[in-house]
Amino acid sequence: MRIDTHLIPSFSHLEDLVSKTVVVMDVLRATSVIVQALSSGVKEIIPVTTVEEAFQLAKSFPLETRLLGGERGSRRIDGFDLGNSPREYITATVKGKTLILTTTNGTRAFHAVSSGKTILVGSYLNVSAVAQRCLHQEADVLLYGSGDQGRLSLEDTVCGGMIIDRLIHLGKPPIELTDASQMALIAYQRFQRDLMEALRLSNHGRTLIDLGLGEDLPFCAQTDTTVLVPVFKDGVVRI
Ligand code: MLT
Repeated sequence: MRIDTHLIPSFSHLEDLVSKTVVVMDVLRATSVIVQALSSGVKEIIPVTTVEEAFQLAKSFPLETRLLGGERGSRRIDGFDLGNSPREYITATVKGKTLILTTTNGTRAFHAVSSGKTILVGSYLNVSAVAQRCLHQEADVLLYGSGDQGRLSLEDTVCGGMIIDRLIHLGKPPIELTDASQMALIAYQRFQRDLMEALRLSNHGRTLIDLGLGEDLPFCAQTDTTVLVPVFKDGVVRI
């Protein structure tokens, strides 16, 4: 199994993924929100690129069956039901609903990798389950960090390294790492005893702290709170 890692996100569509398992990671916070929302019983999540698209799509659902969630500048969007803090996605609010989600980086990533054979959603919350699922797919893997407005992000790099670490420990099949994957693994090894340190040091982590959203960091730093592995298929994320 060859594991490559996209440390720097691409905003254009990637074409060569038809035989690969792709894992989209946006630890702070889009993929943590997706994993948390599905753990809390959301029916499905439709990631969209723009706020306009989100409002337009919302019109095709009865009001009581859908939620609009996401952020711009990390803050809740005017007219939306929820922001992009995973702490908001509790069962009482989201159970059984369709979530239309738009975020600055994370939701765009799904459209960039939509040619993937299988597209999984990864975060620290479900990291071991994601590694297991990659193994079962029996295909080469691309770990895709959504990054921070086109730049590498420390928290997604560490998440990629953590998935690689789990795959190595699962012990089969022989694993070949690209240089980017080696770098992700080294980043994880540096922070494995204290993931919060990586989140606190990261650009986006510091932005969230400055905005008063620092409580999202320990939430997103939790490891293996669920075995759910969301899958993006035909424009929708489900489990
Ligand atoms: C994103 O997709 O860019 C993020 O999740 C941003 C955030 O939550 O602040």
